[in-house]
This record gives sequence, C-alpha cells and structure tokens, in this order.
Amino acid sequence: MSPSSPGETAPRPPRLELRNVTVERGGRPVVRDVTIPVPAGEVTALLGANGAGKSSLVLAVGGVLKPRAGSVSLDGTELAGKRPERIRAAGIAIVPEGRRLLPDLSVDDNIKVATYALSKQAAAEGRARAFELFPRLGERLNVSARLLSGGEQQMVVLAQALVSQPRFILIDELSLGLAPVVVNQLIPVIRRVAADGAGVLLIEQFATVALALATGAHVMEGGALRYSGTAAELKARPELLHSAYLLRGADVEATAVLDGSMAEALGEADTGQ
Ligand SMILES: Nc1ncnc2c1ncn2[C@@H]1O[C@H](COP(=O)(O)OP(=O)(O)OP(=O)(O)O)[C@@H](O)[C@H]1O
Ligand SMILES: [Mg+2]
Repeated sequence: MSPSSPGETAPRPPRLELRNVTVERGGRPVVRDVTIPVPAGEVTALLGANGAGKSSLVLAVGGVLKPRAGSVSLDGTELAGKRPERIRAAGIAIVPEGRRLLPDLSVDDNIKVATYALSKQAAAEGRARAFELFPRLGERLNVSARLLSGGEQQMVVLAQALVSQPRFILIDELSLGLAPVVVNQLIPVIRRVAADGAGVLLIEQFATVALALATGAHVMEGGALRYSGTAAELKARPELLHSAYLLRGADVEATAVLDGSMAEALGEADTGQ
C-alpha cells in the first residue's frame, strides 16, 4: 500500500530476460533479435509455425546452442553462452522438444538420473515435489519407462525438469502427440508451477491451451517476433494466429474439442486452491 520511501529500492520480482537474441544454425540466423521477458509466477506463451525458431531459442537459453548475439539475464546475471550445467544451476530448466526417457530404467530411476547434480537434501525435496505434482508417477515408480503411456512419459519428462525446483522452466511442446484428455491433466500442473512462483515459458501447438494459461504471449515467424503482448489481446485477435499459420483446419477442430474439456481442467485448478 505505502510507496517505498526515496532511496529505498523496492524488491523487484525475479525475471528471466531474453534480449535481442540471435541464433545461427547451419550458417544462417534462425532466431533474429528476439526479446522476451519471462516474469516469475506467470506463464508466458511462445507460439509460431513449424520452423519459426522456437526450439532454437529454447536451446540457446539452455546453453545447448550458443547465441550469436544478445543477452539472457537472470536477476542481472548474464548467462548467454554459458554451459548448460551453469544455466541449470542458476535455476533455469529446459524441457527440450522430443526429449526421450531411458526406456529400460524405471520411472524412479529416470527421475533419479535428473538429480545427479543436486545435494542429497535438494534431491529429496525435489523428488517429493515432483511426486506431489504428478501423483500418478508415484503409483508407477517401478515401471519401466518403455511401458508408460505417452502422457505418463511426458509427466516423467516434466518431472525430470521440475525435480531441481527451477525458478524458470522452458517447456518446448507440452502436448505434442498427446490426446486431449492427457493434455487436460497437464494443464493444472503448469498452472500450479507458475502459481507457486516459477516463471514458465510455454511452447504449445494448441494456441488455445497456451493462451488460456498465459499472461504474456509472443508469436515468432521466420526467426523474428511478429507479436509481443498479452495473451488476452492475442486471443481477441485470432487473425494474428491465422496469418502466422497457427490455426489451420485440423488444428481448429482439435482445438475446439480441447476447448470444451479444457474449461473443466481449468475450473478444477481454480477450485483446488
Ligand atoms: N540442426 C540444425 N541445423 C541447421 N538448421 C536447423 C537445425 N535444426 C533446425 N534448423 C533450422 O532452424 C530453423 C528453426 O527451427 P526450429 O526447430 O528452431 O523451429 P521451431 O519453431 O521449433 O519449429 P517446430 O514448430 O517445427 O518445432 C528452421 O529453419 C530449421 O530448418
Ligand atoms: Mg520446435
């Protein structure tokens, strides 16, 4: 209520800032001058057609690709070009597109693998948190990853990233290849992760899902940003999504199916608080 007195610096909420990031692959820029703020405690949607550069951006933030130019800063610490372990230790987790599990290892061991760099206590806390978010995995602890459904596998992939209790998490394709009923189980988890304070950058093929969860939204096309603003405004201007080839015939149908049951998923998340 009371404004801070002069000279007193108000605590600023942590923010992951991607500024003017350019990434080259195969000798050509595939991400060009992209600026995206990722605030803590919110979901930020990143949309764009195939080949727009979304995955390349995520890999650059995670240290897998080295940005050609630009800045990736977390609380004023510059992380662009640092090694993946350093970026993870700073509190940024990435879920790369199409990540695979170790098929012969159990759910438990796949999650343990992701805790190797953590202290014993942090690993125990992270595991408890992962199983709290995905109670289903607690029931499947000793099952080989190869025997899991697609949805369960995606839960393990997300749990592997969340086990380090990251302050920021970048998820590249939450629902690719998953049935709507499974997507609806993941929606409340993403909401909860953000509500509990983490900043989430969400890449999601179903624009409707991403925009229902997100506060801020960005659309990439041909490596560059085409829209940056609020998710609410983007929802109200579907022509922007159409022109970026984000809503096509099949997608529109799938999204419509998803919409009905999604209201339920979102409603459950609301009353669960
Ligand atoms: N290993 C690679 N070497 C060279 N170019 C690549 C490589 N991987 C991707 N690209 C190119 O980089 C550009 C951006 O691809 P990227 O995978 O980042 O897009 P995307 O937005 O994630 O697409 P999608 O929605 O299909 O996942 C594309 O033109 C792609 O062909
Ligand atoms: Mg991609």
